[in-house]
Amino acid sequence: MRVLGIETSCDETGVAIVDTAPWEAGEPAGKGLLGQALYSQIAMHVDYGGVVPELASRDHIKRVIPLINQTLNDSNTSLNEIDAIAFTQGPGLAGALLVGASIAKGLALSMNKPVLGIHHLEGHLLSPLLAKNANIQFPFVALLVSGGHTQLMEVKAVGEYTILGETLDDAAGEAFDKTAKLLGLSYPGGPAVSKLAEIGDASIYQFPRPMKHSGDLDFSFAGLKTSVLTQVKKLKAQGDDIFEAQKASIARGFVDAIVEVLVSKSIAALKQTGHKTLVVAGGVGANTQLRQGLETACAQAGYSVHYPPLELCTDNGAMIAFAGAMRLRKNPQLAKKDWGFDVRPRWPLDQIG
Ligand code: KG4
Ligand code: ZN
Repeated sequence: MRVLGIETSCDETGVAIVDTAPWEAGEPAGKGLLGQALYSQIAMHVDYGGVVPELASRDHIKRVIPLINQTLNDSNTSLNEIDAIAFTQGPGLAGALLVGASIAKGLALSMNKPVLGIHHLEGHLLSPLLAKNANIQFPFVALLVSGGHTQLMEVKAVGEYTILGETLDDAAGEAFDKTAKLLGLSYPGGPAVSKLAEIGDASIYQFPRPMKHSGDLDFSFAGLKTSVLTQVKKLKAQGDDIFEAQKASIARGFVDAIVEVLVSKSIAALKQTGHKTLVVAGGVGANTQLRQGLETACAQAGYSVHYPPLELCTDNGAMIAFAGAMRLRKNPQLAKKDWGFDVRPRWPLDQIG
């Protein structure tokens, strides 16, 4: 079965085709990805310091059909070889989601093929299974760290997710982006802060580790951002400008704090559930320092840790096509020919049904 996936929840237009045929339980799934195309709007939003929803929707409209054609070409697949279409139904920006939903439903109607709305985070969550030679067995704990979400989930099987803990305020990616802004770095801030932190001195700025000892698996990053702001203001009060080295050390202090909290809560979630495997997904999962921290802590405690390939950490169509394929394989009844549609800009993952 070939599934076409369409992602338009934020500032990336992603399209991909996966073939479910090769997969059997425990088999590597990577060979199922036949082709994908991605257009990132980052350059368009950079002047505004963040995503402008109206511009995002308009750009998805412009990109999505050419990307579908490109993906069909690259994967040597004709439209009538597509068996089902999967699209991101939520959460995300309402207008942006509507572009993907309307294209997916319209295409499915014209082809008389089933269509399935996918939860964006389920896409992220399952994306590590798409890696070549991934050998990830259920159940596992997933750390979802994106621009909009920070959650620890227990994953028993496809579609069986329990939220163990989540952020009470800012998401990890949001904290990276806001810190980047305070340091005068460009959007999206995660990669920029991470790179600058590499040359910073860890001993200069110590920021709080919010909720590290809260006894639960929740997070809070708003206070950490405020601590960075206070530090930046203090330095600015002393002179006109902050030196590059000072910025790097602030970035380092921030990264060390956020990584320590994410690592310690992930280990606590593994202990609490008794599962041996941690899967990391979402844009912040691309972060080098987080990967190093998790690698070390998991090795020490006897857990294994898995990530999606770097190019699948941030938003893409492959994860949506893959999640669609996995859901349809598990429950063929989900393959409905239903042309009405809505989107769910807010949608808790444990309510996907
Ligand atoms: O998953 P994603 O592409 O979009 C959402 O669903 O939100 O995640 C985007 C977030 C942004 O906040 C971005 O700054 C962050 O992921 N990010 C990173 C890195 N790459 C992307 N954060 C830290 N280090 C990175 N290398
Ligand atoms: Zn995402």
